[in-house]
Formats: sequence, C-alpha cells, structure tokens
Amino acid sequence: MTEPPKIRRLTYADLPQVLAIERRAFPTPWSLAMFVLELSKPSGICLAALREGRLVGYCVCSRYDKVWHLMNIAVNPDFQRTGVATALLATLEERVGDEQARFTLEVRQSNAPAIVLYERHGFRGAGLRRRYYHDNGEDALIMWSTPATRAARSDGAADGSLDDVHNARRIRSA
Ligand SMILES: CC(C)(COP(=O)(O)OP(=O)(O)OC[C@H]1O[C@@H](n2cnc3c(N)ncnc32)[C@H](O)[C@@H]1OP(=O)(O)O)[C@@H](O)C(=O)NCCC(=O)NCCS
Repeated sequence: MTEPPKIRRLTYADLPQVLAIERRAFPTPWSLAMFVLELSKPSGICLAALREGRLVGYCVCSRYDKVWHLMNIAVNPDFQRTGVATALLATLEERVGDEQARFTLEVRQSNAPAIVLYERHGFRGAGLRRRYYHDNGEDALIMWSTPATRAARSDGAADGSLDDVHNARRIRSA
C-alpha cells in the first residue's frame, strides 16, 4: 500500500509548483492572484501534500461565517490515485477540528472522479448551479458535508464508487 503523503500548510513559496499542477489539472486554471488572495485570508486553511519533498497536491478552503467552502483541490496527474487528495481532505477535517462543521463545494457534473472522492468523505449532492462554468456552460453540482451526511457515510450509505455517482445522477434527474 502507498504511504500517505506528508501534509503541511501551503505557503506563498509553493505557488510556482501549485500553478504548474493547476494548469495541468483544470481547463480554466486559477491565476497566481487568486491563490495569493486565498493564502492571505487568516481564517482559511490551505494545505500542501508532499512526496519525497516534492509538492504533489494542494487544497484551499475558506471560511464564510460558519461554513467552510472547499475552493480548490488538485493533485499532479502523475501522482493521482495514490491517496493524496484523501490525505488532504482528512487533514482538512482534522485541522477544522469541529464535529459540527459544515463544508460545501461546487464540482462539474461531469467530474465523476472528484464526486466519488467527495462522497467518500461524507459530501452529498444538494442541487445544481445552472451554467456555472463559463468555458463550456456546464452546471455545477453543489455538495455539502454536514454532521448528518458524515454520519450516513459511517453507516456505509455510499461506499464511494462510480456506481454511487451514477445512482445519484439518476435520482437527481428523476
Ligand atoms: C479529483 C482529484 C483531486 C482526486 O485526487 P487523488 O489524489 O487522485 O484521489 P485519491 O487517490 O485520494 O482517491 C480517493 C478515491 O477517490 C476516487 N477516485 C479518485 N480518482 C478517481 C478516478 N479517476 N476514477 C474513479 N474514482 C476516483 C476513488 O474512490 C479513490 O479511491 P481508490 O483509489 O481507493 O479507488 C484528482 O483527480 C484531480 O486533481 N483532478 C483534477 C482536478 C479536479 O478535478 N479537482 C476537483 C475540482 S472540484
């Protein structure tokens, strides 16, 4: 089994490597200014994942009032499916350190790998933002993780397979 990556706080010095991953991971990557803005927010939690000292993934989470908003998460394609995002999300939950915390995010409806990942971490779909993505007019799936959805995860309500994503889509479009 692959060892979990080392997780630490993301810093301004990491941003050149972050941008290199960002540009490989997304059709409309964030700019340097967007990362600088997020890192400057004192209430946010931004994390870096490292393998053998090399930055291989990151996540950016901002707090708005009482809700944590997962703004960005990406992993270098050469290191995907090795538990990097899982370690980032687990550490994020740990650092928030509040069992009552509520998290939300938006994800492209077509991004099945990310949706599976989020469902494994207790997120559930809760509506759409129509034509949210400007590059192709795609809808965003809004997902929430709350004490209730996380309890359902522990009960094994969804085991985080692509079948769960397809089932959830069927239910939503019914
Ligand atoms: C989504 C993303 C962050 C996942 O990162 P990762 O480090 O590869 O994820 P993990 O290795 O921790 O995977 C955890 C689980 O998520 C699911 N998963 C992740 N990638 C998957 C894929 N390509 N296909 C199916 N399931 C996938 C699996 O259940 C996986 O567990 P398993 O490997 O034991 O089957 C990564 O694919 C990525 O950077 N994508 C591009 C950027 C992006 O879409 N970010 C999300 C924006 S909302």
